[in-house]
Amino acid sequence: MSIVFLSPTGQSGGAEAALIELLAGLRESHPSWSLDVIVASDGPLVGGVRALGVPVQVLPFPPSVARLGDWSVGTGLLARAKFLVRCAGIAWPAARYLRRLRSLLRDRGPVVIHTNGFKMHVLGAWAKPRDSKVLWHLHDYIARRALTATLLRYSAHRCAAAIANSRSVADDMRTVCGSALPVHPVWNAVDLNRFSPRGPQLDLDAMSGLPSATDVIRVGLIATFARWKGHPTFLRALAMLPPSLRVRGYVIGGPVYETAGSQVTLEELRQEAISLGLANRVGFTGMVPDSSAAMRALDVVVHASTDPEPFGLVIAEAMACGKPVITSGAGGARELAEPDVNALVHTPGDAADLARAIDALASNAKLRARIGAAGRATAERSFTRRRLASELTPIYEGLAGPPRGGPSVRH
Ligand code: GLC
Repeated sequence: MSIVFLSPTGQSGGAEAALIELLAGLRESHPSWSLDVIVASDGPLVGGVRALGVPVQVLPFPPSVARLGDWSVGTGLLARAKFLVRCAGIAWPAARYLRRLRSLLRDRGPVVIHTNGFKMHVLGAWAKPRDSKVLWHLHDYIARRALTATLLRYSAHRCAAAIANSRSVADDMRTVCGSALPVHPVWNAVDLNRFSPRGPQLDLDAMSGLPSATDVIRVGLIATFARWKGHPTFLRALAMLPPSLRVRGYVIGGPVYETAGSQVTLEELRQEAISLGLANRVGFTGMVPDSSAAMRALDVVVHASTDPEPFGLVIAEAMACGKPVITSGAGGARELAEPDVNALVHTPGDAADLARAIDALASNAKLRARIGAAGRATAERSFTRRRLASELTPIYEGLAGPPRGGPSVRH
């Protein structure tokens, strides 16, 4: 089996972390398979792939293609007209990129081209050699993203199958491309050795410039700065807690994507914290080198996405660290959580409901221990590399078809 993976970014968002785990799982389960990665910008993903011994090549997007996204479409006639003009400007660099990608793929001649993000779903579909099969790995919802949905619908006939990171994302995909394209829901895996209850811890206070303290409950939101990750909800919830609770909040993470307009800025969040009177009770750590060490330094991990979360890798990772997690109750995130057993669940965007859940955990050490232990058990059952590889194997082999000249059996 030979597979080329296409990633539209080398940055370290959830889809890229999921890709690294996937590659690690395939390396362990199928050491003889040939795996190759092509990525459209340099970044931590490249080092992560190399560390697994998987060859990786950076084929950078032209800047105009890197910046293009639904977030930049805007509403109103003028915004749309401007957007169309920009699209016209992108056509030529995109066509040139497609030619280069096509020639790289022709050289490698993979059985499967596994694409890990929207731009690569489209480019991979149009650049594929005749005998290769394209497998889209969907990490996000599409139906409400006008540009993406249109492009994928238009490219779907060149794709053989799709994987979705949750049932919820699979259902969304079916509303966009119909039932002709097989869509397999497959949960992500997590590195259970790295994301484990034991290991180094970051000094979150030092990282965020807060005075060190020993008698506080540390509650953190770990996320990119995508607008829908719910940072304002988290800050408002912290402001609603009784001061006697001695909770300190941490915003852990930063902006990672290049798509214009899709992220909040650190300055906006700092201003919001100040206006809520939280200046001394919230720390901003920026990006952290190892999110598992950040999680271990927390007493409670919060997931606050205001839109349905496609999967929620942070939730799975926090569970693997044995930390009690509060998730927002929509989308794939809702599939991972068994409310009051391995997580507490709040209504997306409802700061008062989130404050209630933080209060419940911050004031009850036994509850924190019980939910945290159940989370680790969930992770050991559901987020292993072995489980991921065993679900992917029949999908790849199904695309490869029967061995040449042989009967129609799976190998
Ligand atoms: C995307 C999704 C996130 C998911 C990750 C890995 O970043 O938004 O929910 O955890 O991909 O699949």
